[in-house]
Parts: sequence; C-alpha cells; structure tokens
Amino acid sequence: MKKVLILGCGAREHVIGETLLRSGHASRQASAGLGNGVELFVLGPAKNPGLAGLATEYEVASVTNFDAVREFVKKIEPDFVVPGPEAPIAAGVVDALAELGVPCVAPIQSLARLESSKSFTRDLLKKYNIPGNPQFRVFERGDENELEAYMAQTLGGQFVVKADGLKSGKGVKVVGDHLKDVAEGVVYARECIAESTATAGQAGRVVVEEKFVGQEFSLMSFVDGETVVDMVPVQDHKRAFENDEGPNTGGMGTYSDANHLLPFLTSRDLEEAHAITVQVAKALRTETGVPYRGVMYGGFIAVKDGVRLIEYNARFGDPEAMNVLCLLRTDFVSVCEAMVRGELKGMTVEFEKKATVCKYVVPNGYPEAGVKGEKIELGEVPTTKAGAAEGLRVYYGSVDQREDGLYLGGSRAVALVGIGETLEAAEKLAEVAASGVKGPVFHRKDIGTATLIAKKVEMMKRLRV
Ligand code: GLY
Repeated sequence: MKKVLILGCGAREHVIGETLLRSGHASRQASAGLGNGVELFVLGPAKNPGLAGLATEYEVASVTNFDAVREFVKKIEPDFVVPGPEAPIAAGVVDALAELGVPCVAPIQSLARLESSKSFTRDLLKKYNIPGNPQFRVFERGDENELEAYMAQTLGGQFVVKADGLKSGKGVKVVGDHLKDVAEGVVYARECIAESTATAGQAGRVVVEEKFVGQEFSLMSFVDGETVVDMVPVQDHKRAFENDEGPNTGGMGTYSDANHLLPFLTSRDLEEAHAITVQVAKALRTETGVPYRGVMYGGFIAVKDGVRLIEYNARFGDPEAMNVLCLLRTDFVSVCEAMVRGELKGMTVEFEKKATVCKYVVPNGYPEAGVKGEKIELGEVPTTKAGAAEGLRVYYGSVDQREDGLYLGGSRAVALVGIGETLEAAEKLAEVAASGVKGPVFHRKDIGTATLIAKKVEMMKRLRV
C-alpha cells in the first residue's frame, strides 16, 4: 500500500488525487491481492468536496503552515508528497520534508526560483545560452531613472513589466493590455522595485522585457533532474471574458487536441519548447548541483519565427492539470516515484489520443470580488466516486459542501472537463455541463469552440507568412 499526501485543495489537486487513485499501480496491486494500492491523504486550507470523498484522512490547515504539514506527515508517514500550489514550494516545503526523509514531487526552494523569481530564470537562460529569452533587463533599486529610456527606446514601446516574486498571476503587466503607455509602465516598475525592497529586505528587482506577439501555450513536463518527459500541450485562457477580454484570472479554461499538438502549433514548435526545457533542467543542475525533480511547466509562445519562453512554473498548471491528467494512461504513482528517484529514463509515459476542453465556472464578480457564500447547483452532471462519468469530469475548486448543497467560496468554483474524439465533441460536453450550473456564476462559452480556435490559427498564419 502506497500512502500519498496532497497539499492543496483546488480542482488541480482534485484531479491529482483522482489520477493517483486510478493509477495502474492500484489495479495491479489489487489484482495481486495487496489491497487497493494507494491511500490518499490531503492537507489544505479548506475541505474540497471531491477530494474529501477520495481521502482516507483530510487535515484542514494552511499549506504554508509547515508545523502543521510536518505534524501531519509524521502521523501518516506518506511514501511521497505532491504539493499542488506554488506557495508552499516557493516557501521551501520540499526542503522541510526532506529533513523528515519524505520526498516531494516538486523542486527544493533554490530550484523553485524558476517560478518564484522571474529574474533568476531570465538570467539562467542568458548565462547558459539557452534560446527562448526576449530582450530583457533586470532593474534594481537605484536604476529607476533608466526605466523610461529602456521601455521607450530600447524596446520601442513594446514591453512587459514583471514583478520579481510570486503574485498569483497578477505580477505581469503588458503594455497595450494592462499598461496604457511608457509612463504607466515606469510607475508600475517603480512600485515593483519598492515593494520587493520592502518585502524581501534586499535590492528590489523588476524585469522589463520585450513584448511577444503570437499564441501562448503550456507545455508541462515530468522531470527527474535529467530526463524530461512532456505532457500534452494545452492552451489556457487567462482573460475573464469571451474573446479574450477583461481582467486576467488564474485561467478560465483550457483545451488540448487529440493529436497531442494544438491547432496553431507545429511539431517543430513543440520540439523547440521541449529542447528549451531540457537545457533549462541541465542548467539548473549545473548551477545548483541539485537535480530538479518535479513538474516543469513552461509557458511558451509561438511567434513569427519559432518559440519563446514566457515563464516557468514549478508545479502543475491549473486548469492545465485537468486536461492532461485525465488522459494519462501510465500509472501516475510510478511516474511520481520515477521523478523523485531520478528514474524517468526509459520510462514510457502515455496519454490517450483524445481532445479535452475544460471550462471553469466562476462566481459573478470574479476575479476582483467573486461572490461568496451563495448556493450553486450543478444540474444533471453524471458523476461517480472517481468522478468519471463517460466523457465528462467534474473537479471541485473554491466551493464549500454544506448539508444542503454547494456554496461558492469566491474563486474558481467548478471545472467541467469534456473528453472526446474531437475538440468539437469535447467542447460540447464541457459546455452543456458548465451551462447547467445554476447560481450567481458565469463561464466562458467560447473556450474550445471552432470559432475561437479558427481566430488563433488565422493569427498564426498571418504572423508566419
Ligand atoms: N494556468 C495558469 C497557472 O496555472 O498558473
């Protein structure tokens, strides 16, 4: 019997839990008469109704309260831990649990800078001559007077300002989207420097870089320090409203295609993105002497002449995890163990050749002030204990299960995932389920539709003529 602890309680952690439990490992163990193979434990700040139904024991505590995490780990003695969100990883939970002899499917704190410090990653690619970087400069306290000239002249007014720490997806501001002009860019960059000086008590930092034009995609990889095994590429939709309008969110929905490409992406683009991740994993080892073990989630963009790196995350994406893990055919427990033991080499990791579309149903007012405490009803969504109705999956996010039903927690509430032979079939399943949710909520009807995808394909065609 394997014991696995998941840290976190969102829809991403729900799909991680479900995938661990339906692991081939479980069925092999069961057929050998060794029990069901995997026992799941969860520690998170709230009780996720989906995970609660899967877990043997559920501890409600903050994932960055390391005393609580250590106590729970000592009590349950897991074989390994899967931290879902970035906060505990960036704060060093992997290092803390290594002291107890418990491995995590995530990197140690110094390697997690790949996500927690934008300047670290840009400098790493530059130092090791890895392709994918934009033209960029890291500004520190004292450099403020040079910001304007860099944005206006060096970058020709086409720039992005990135706060240097974790900001829950809200630290990146792009001219033309969130920043009107150079003047607003300078104000925001100064704020970032001042804030990071105050919070980190060190030279504040901000990254200013060239703005890319193209189509973004997420390529997550299982990494054991040396071997990099890609998952299926996915496209996320960060804007709150249809046609990619409105404020940035954690991600309103995602899709992946049955051929394991994306409609606007070439195999060569994917190979380029893979090669960047391989080189970055190698550079991280050279730089720190420690292997990166966990998920490397590259946010890439296909541009006129190839692929560039937007950023890395040191964890599964949310919602991207929903698209890929529900297609994973290989025993997930074995994949996790291979990552933490450095044994991915030679392992075949397979994903079903199906399309997926994930739509998040979110409270009205999200992302600024999502409604909380209001009741929702899921409608006629067929589910089983494993969450696996044919072609449709339901993953719970920010919802509270009370005796009389589900209540909104203020953030992304429920992820509906359609799985089909084609994008059209997958989108239909997700859309019917998302539209069936009753209450003060909304979702993006356009995610995964032929109309929106055609626009993306057309944009890439125009860019690459
Ligand atoms: N899909 C965005 C994220 O996980 O950060």
